[in-house]
Amino acid sequence: MSEVTKAAVMKASGCPVSHTDYTVPRPLFETYELLNAEREQGPFLWNDSRRRPFWMITEYEHVLEALQMPDVFSNEVISALSPEHTFDLLPQFLDPPEHTAMRRVLNRWFAPAAVRRLEPLVLSRCIELIEELRPVGGCDLVSDFAIRFPTDLFLATLNLPMSDGDVFLGHVENVFKSFAGRELEAAARSTDWIRDYFDRAITAREREPRDTEMDFISRLLVSELGGAPIPREDIITICYTAMLAGLDTTRSALGYIFHHLARDPDLRHRLTGEPSLWPKAVEEFVRLYPLVYMDGRLVTRDLDFHGVPMRKGDIVWLGLGTANHDPKKFAGPRTFDIDREHVNHHLSFGAGPHRCLGMHLARHELVIAVSEWHKRIPDYEIATTEQLYERGAQLSINRLPLRWEVLWEVLWVPCCPSTNPAAPGTGAATRRRRSCSAMTTRDS
Ligand code: HEM
Repeated sequence: MSEVTKAAVMKASGCPVSHTDYTVPRPLFETYELLNAEREQGPFLWNDSRRRPFWMITEYEHVLEALQMPDVFSNEVISALSPEHTFDLLPQFLDPPEHTAMRRVLNRWFAPAAVRRLEPLVLSRCIELIEELRPVGGCDLVSDFAIRFPTDLFLATLNLPMSDGDVFLGHVENVFKSFAGRELEAAARSTDWIRDYFDRAITAREREPRDTEMDFISRLLVSELGGAPIPREDIITICYTAMLAGLDTTRSALGYIFHHLARDPDLRHRLTGEPSLWPKAVEEFVRLYPLVYMDGRLVTRDLDFHGVPMRKGDIVWLGLGTANHDPKKFAGPRTFDIDREHVNHHLSFGAGPHRCLGMHLARHELVIAVSEWHKRIPDYEIATTEQLYERGAQLSINRLPLRWEVLWEVLWVPCCPSTNPAAPGTGAATRRRRSCSAMTTRDS
C-alpha cells in the first residue's frame, strides 16, 4: 500500500500515530512507561518509527485473539521492529501445519515432567554458583549469575556437558551484543562457532548413538517430520533457537526480579520466611516485567480487525507488554500483588500455537534461582547510584551491581551439607572462580 493510501486509511480508521522507536536503549523502566502511554492512547495505533511501519495492538483481549489466529497473523515475521530476518529460527518461523508437527516432536522434551527430571542437577549447579559468589560480598548479578546459571542449565537440558559452559558463554554473549546492533562481526563468528558446536555434537551421536529418552539431539536424530528424518541443518537450527530463546530471557527475568527485590526488603523478608510463596511470586514477577513485550506477525490476507483495515503484507505488533499491564484485565496492573487472581493469564510467554516452548523450564529455573539465593544471601542492596539502562527490542538490564554483608553463620544450610562448605573457598565451587566486577566487600 502506498504511503498516501496508508495515510488515508489511517485517517478513516481513526488510529493515533506513534513515532516511538523501541530499538534504542533507555533508562531502566522507561520502556514500560512508553508502552502504557501507547495503550492509553487507544487499542490500535500506527507506528511509523521504522522503515516498514506497523500496526500496534495494545489491549489484552485483542492481543490474545490475534495470537490465536495463525492463519491470518503469520510467524513469517516475529518482530515488528526487524521484520527482515537474517538467520533462521525453528520452530519460530513456521506456521501450522508444519509448526504443529515440529512442536509435537519438541514439546515432550520441555514438558514439566522432563524439566523435573533435571532438578537434582539444576539445584546443585545453582547452589554451587551462589556459594562461589556469597563470600565475595557482591557481584554484578547479570554477568556473574543471571547468565551463567541458564547457560549451564541449557547445556544440561540438552544433555551436553556443563563443563563447556565457560567457552559457550563467551560466544553466547557475543551473539546477544548483536541484538543491540553492536559488534556484528564477532557475533557472526560466534554464531558459526555455536552452530559448529552443535554440528560436532550431532556427529558424535551419529558415531555413538545415545539413549533417545535422555539425549535431546539423539531424540531429534530418530524423529521424523512429514515421514522424513529431520535435516541436519534443521537440528542445528533447533538447538541454536532454543539457546537464543532461552538464555537471554532468563537472564533478563532474573535481572528485573532481583532489582525489584533489592528495593523491597519487606517483600524479600516475607518470601525468605515463607519459601513456599516463591512460585506465586515468580509468576507475578513474570507478569509485571514482560521482557518479550511484543510479538511481530505478518498479515496474510486483507481483513477488518475490530474496525482496523489491515491489508495483506502489513506488519503487526502484538503488545504482550501492554496486555500484561492492561487495567481491563489485571487490577492495579503496575504493582506487584502476590495474591493476584489468575496471574498465569499473563502473556509474557505468549499464547496460541507459538506459546513459549521453554516456559516450564524457565519457571523452574527462576524459582530455584531465587529460592536458593535467598536461603544463602537474604539481604543485599543495589551497589550503585548510577542510572541503569535496559536494552530495547527485547528488554534486558545491562548490569545490576549488588552488595551484601558476608555473614559466615549463614554458610551452613542443613538440607544440603555436601554443597555448603564450612569456610569460604573450601567448597566445590571453584571451577569458574573469578573476580566480581562491581562491588565493595564488607566482612562482618
Ligand atoms: C522468562 C523466560 C522466558 C520468556 C519471557 C519467554 C518468552 C517467550 C515468548 C513470548 C514466546 C512466544 C514468541 C511468539 O509468539 O512468536 C516464546 C517462544 C519460545 N521460547 Fe521462550 N521465553 C522464556 C524462556 C525460554 C526458555 C528457557 C526456552 C528454552 C528452550 C525458550 C524457548 C522458546 C522457543 C523455542 C520458542 C518458540 C516457540 C514456537 O515458536 O513455537 N524460552 N518465548
